[in-house]
Amino acid sequence: LAGHADSFACAGVGRLITQWPAEILNRAGETVDISCYQNYTTLAYMLWYQQTPRNGLNLVASTSPWMQNSYEEGYNEAKFEINRNHNDHSVMTIKNVTSKDAATYFCAASDHTVYGTKLTVLGKNDKIIPPAVAIFSPSKQEIQQKSKATLVCLASGFYPDHLNLVWKVNGAQRTEGVGTDEFSTWNGSTYSLTSRLRISAQEWLCTHRRYVCLLTGKYLYVI
Ligand SMILES: *[C@@H]1O[C@H](CO)[C@@H](O)[C@H](O)[C@H]1NC(C)=O
Ligand SMILES: *[C@@H]1O[C@H](CO)[C@@H](O)[C@H](O)[C@H]1NC(C)=O
Ligand SMILES: *[C@@H]1O[C@H](CO)[C@@H](O)[C@H](O)[C@H]1NC(C)=O
Repeated sequence: LAGHADSFACAGVGRLITQWPAEILNRAGETVDISCYQNYTTLAYMLWYQQTPRNGLNLVASTSPWMQNSYEEGYNEAKFEINRNHNDHSVMTIKNVTSKDAATYFCAASDHTVYGTKLTVLGKNDKIIPPAVAIFSPSKQEIQQKSKATLVCLASGFYPDHLNLVWKVNGAQRTEGVGTDEFSTWNGSTYSLTSRLRISAQEWLCTHRRYVCLLTGKYLYVI
C-alpha cells in the first residue's frame, strides 16, 4: 500500500488542523494509523475522506463527541476504525490493508453540519416504511449520580431516509439539551435515528411534564 495523507494547516485565525503521517508505505495485511488534530472548536465534527484517482473524493465517516461514528455506504467500522478520544484528536485505523485501500486520506473539521443536498431516488417497488418509535426513560443511576436525566428517542425500521425529529415538552418544542444523530444508521434494509434530550433531574422528577418525540418527514408524519 502506498497511501499518503498530506499534512496541512488551514482554517481561520488561531485555528489549526493537521494530520500525520504524511506518507505511509505498508505491506498488504498490515494495519495503518492516521492521526488528525484540530483545535477549530471543541464541538467540531471531524470527518474522514478517502480520495482515489478512480473514485474521487469520498466521505468515509464523520465523528462528533456526542454521537456514534456515522459511516457512509461502502465503508464500515471493521475496516476503518475511527477513535475520537479527545475533542481535538481523532485516529483512523485502517485494518488489514489491501491495494484497494491505497488512497490519499484527508481529515476535516466543521463546527456545524456539513451542508449538502441529498437526493434519494425511490425504486418503483421500494416501499415507504414509517418508523417504529420508542422513548426510553432516564436511568436511575444517572439521576442519582449526575442529577441529570436523559430521555432517548429511537426511531427505527424506516425507509427512505428523510426524517426530522423534534422534542416537545407539554406541546412546546424544546431545543436546549437535544442531541440528535447527524445521520441515520442504515442496517442494510432500513434506517434508524436516535435523539437524546438531557434535562435536570429536578425537571424530570418534579414537574410531571409530557415529553413527546415528534417525527416528521417529506413522506410521513408520525407521532
Ligand atoms: C490552535 O493551535 C495553534 C498552534 O498550536 C495555536 O497557535 C492556536 O492558538 C490554537 N488555537 C486555539 C483556539 O486553541
Ligand atoms: C485480510 O484481507 C484478505 C483479503 O481481503 C482476507 O483474505 C483476509 O482474511 C483478511 N484477514 C483478516 C485478518 O481480516
Ligand atoms: C434492520 O432493522 C429493522 C428494524 O429495526 C429490522 O426489522 C430488520 O430485521 C433489520 N435488518 C437487518 C438486515 O438487520
